[in-house]
Amino acid sequence: MLRNLIFTFVLLCVSGVLTAATEPPEETPRGDPEAGRAAALVCSACHGSDGRGIGPEYPNLGGQHYNYLLSQMRAFHSGERQALLMMGQVEHLTEQQLKDISAFYAEQPLAEGTADAAPEVLELGERIYRAGIANKGVAACIACHSPGGHGNGPAGYPSLSGQPERYTALQLKAYRDGERETDAGMGGVMRGVTQNMNDREIEAVSAYIRGLH
Ligand code: HEC
Ligand code: HEC
Repeated sequence: MLRNLIFTFVLLCVSGVLTAATEPPEETPRGDPEAGRAAALVCSACHGSDGRGIGPEYPNLGGQHYNYLLSQMRAFHSGERQALLMMGQVEHLTEQQLKDISAFYAEQPLAEGTADAAPEVLELGERIYRAGIANKGVAACIACHSPGGHGNGPAGYPSLSGQPERYTALQLKAYRDGERETDAGMGGVMRGVTQNMNDREIEAVSAYIRGLH
């Protein structure tokens, strides 16, 4: 009986039904995008002047949701999220500057990408994105990240569309391997989603996401 209850609870968590109850509220007031533009000058070396990443491991920031950007900047600031190239980039910034920069990038255009993987890879990726992998308890990405990959700002679900597939795959593996724990405030949702995914499945869904818009 107890085992069944625990099993049901885990299933609900993995499918995202329970995590929806822990959505963070929209942060107000927003930062000032004009002040953010100036503060983000140094970031453009890697994230481009309008938030388009300059290479396959550099995420696009343009058009990303304000709340999500701010949460990740805070995580880099506190050291909760670590990445070699982001080291020393935001530690010295004030909370107001983190908000201003988030407001600036949120207003930039979303960078579109083109999926160029082999058809059978994209087919597998699309299947996972739309339906998950039922027999492995992998939830459908579409439920939270939306059909076009634009996510849901107020709910804290990031936009994924157009991200370089290498960046996306690195993040999915980091969640799976417990190296990225920034989803702690969201019930560990992405660690749950990825825990049973193998590299092939992760790379396929990442290739599909690149062409979503
Ligand atoms: C030397 C290159 C470099 C510079 C300069 C840089 N970044 Fe980054 N940034 C990266 C890389 C690489 C990642 C991906 C990190 C990872 O793999 O987790 C990243 C990730 C991010 C993310 C997370 C995006 C997401 O989708 O989760 C944000 C937000 C961010 N950077 C903001 C900034 C800001 C703001 C600045 C300037 C103050 C900046 N970065 C400067 C390389 C850089
Ligand atoms: C129940 C909702 C939910 C489902 C289902 C879900 N995600 Fe997420 N996803 C989130 C949330 C919330 C975050 C932000 C977590 C954080 O702050 O680290 C996120 C973050 C991500 C990120 C990091 C984005 C970045 O810019 O670094 C990627 C990549 C991602 N999800 C891909 C997927 C894929 C692929 C699937 C399907 C296999 C999926 N997600 C299913 C809610 C979900």
